Amino acid sequence: MDKIKIIGGNPLFGKVFISGAKNTALPIICASLLTDEPVTIQNIPFLSDIKSLNALLLQLGTQIEAKSEQRNGHLTQTITYYTQQPTSLIAPYDFVRKMRASYYVLGPLLTKYGHVELSLPGGCAIGARPMDIHLSSLEQMGAQIEIKNGYVVADIKGRLQGAHITFHSASVGATCNILMAAALAEGTTVIENAAKEPEISDLINMLNKMGANIEGANTSTLTIYGVEKLHGTTHEIINDRIEAGSYAVAAAITHGRVELVNAPAQYLQAPLDILRKCGAKVEIIDNGFTVDAQNATLYGQDIYTDYYPGFPTDLQAQFMALMCVAEGAAMVTESIWENRFMHVPELMRMGANINVHGHASAIVRGVKKLSAAPVMSTDLRASFALILAGLVADGETTVNRVYHLDRGYEHLEEKFKAIGADIERIKIPD
Ligand code: EPZ
Repeated sequence: MDKIKIIGGNPLFGKVFISGAKNTALPIICASLLTDEPVTIQNIPFLSDIKSLNALLLQLGTQIEAKSEQRNGHLTQTITYYTQQPTSLIAPYDFVRKMRASYYVLGPLLTKYGHVELSLPGGCAIGARPMDIHLSSLEQMGAQIEIKNGYVVADIKGRLQGAHITFHSASVGATCNILMAAALAEGTTVIENAAKEPEISDLINMLNKMGANIEGANTSTLTIYGVEKLHGTTHEIINDRIEAGSYAVAAAITHGRVELVNAPAQYLQAPLDILRKCGAKVEIIDNGFTVDAQNATLYGQDIYTDYYPGFPTDLQAQFMALMCVAEGAAMVTESIWENRFMHVPELMRMGANINVHGHASAIVRGVKKLSAAPVMSTDLRASFALILAGLVADGETTVNRVYHLDRGYEHLEEKFKAIGADIERIKIPD
């Protein structure tokens, strides 16, 4: 259980290279299970969530070959996945417990091999995280599904059948799973109220390159004309909008100037608008954007998280850290997850003034200064928010449970050090 130590006070200056998107890589890696030919995926970030998913695919019988290469100015991973014939159709509890996105094997294995046993992931720190949409949609497509001993056991006779499905929430995970399942179904599937996140559009691009026939990318109605077979391909995944947004806040909160190289500004309209309204200068440049808050007075702004293109829930904690030291008050409302304010008590231990109303809203009143403290986080984005608070706190902050950060932020200390942060990992021997 390593820790991160930060000494606050340094404004950040320089360049951060943004990595491939974790939340795109995870479904796209699982899409490789839809073909018995090799699939090569470029721009995969070096993250523990990727290692966990690779471990699951290895135990399903996938051959995996990884190489590191320089792309777009920094080191990235290219990985080839080759599942000629799976040796298992079971995603065991130990894998799914570690990384809930393991559930992306459900759609591909069921549609291609007719059977899958997936441990139910259960809830986590940010909410109950049900899978009802994934399961009821597959049932509408003709799957027989049973819950047995904590596992989803799903079977089909022949092929899944195209269906007209309306989601009750625009779930990212269910959209990915049903897209993959429907790609090899018999007939046409229509998904209404599908998620529109850029990660979905990237998955659609990749599936179409594999021979799928999917229309409606970037809209909430997707039409999937099922095909009999998909083939191998090479695909470069998009860059991580949430990582870019997180470092953008780091530039603003420290009153520095940072260039986010390879950052997909086009997917960050809502958060960049908030940064501008706060008083930071945000400039779109070729292949990225800059955030400049030198000499700026930052003012609190209200935030309401919503489905894309609304403000992303995965940036709520980081922006809340910014509001803690901005002038005036800001109302932060979380509409996606029912329990995503776990960072609030930790920020308050550092001197933040936050009042939580029910589960969904918090009023943040800006304070002049935060004070350093040992803090503990419960999830990936909350951990980054605590680092942001540490960057502007008086003295030395230690953030515990660094494994959360390793799941989703590639080379975090290196990236922060390169822009002048006083940050260090303290290795705790096992
Ligand atoms: C994805 O989670 C992301 N994870 C999350 O990022 C992100 O917060 C979330 O989308 C929302 O943008 C990955 O991509 C791996 P959902 P996912 O299904 O797919 C309800 C991070 O920090 N719902 O879109 O699990 C659900 O309860 C992570 O990187 C159902 O009711 O989220 C929630 O309220 C955390 N039934 C809403 O939909 C279902 O069957 C959105 O969930 C599925 C979801």
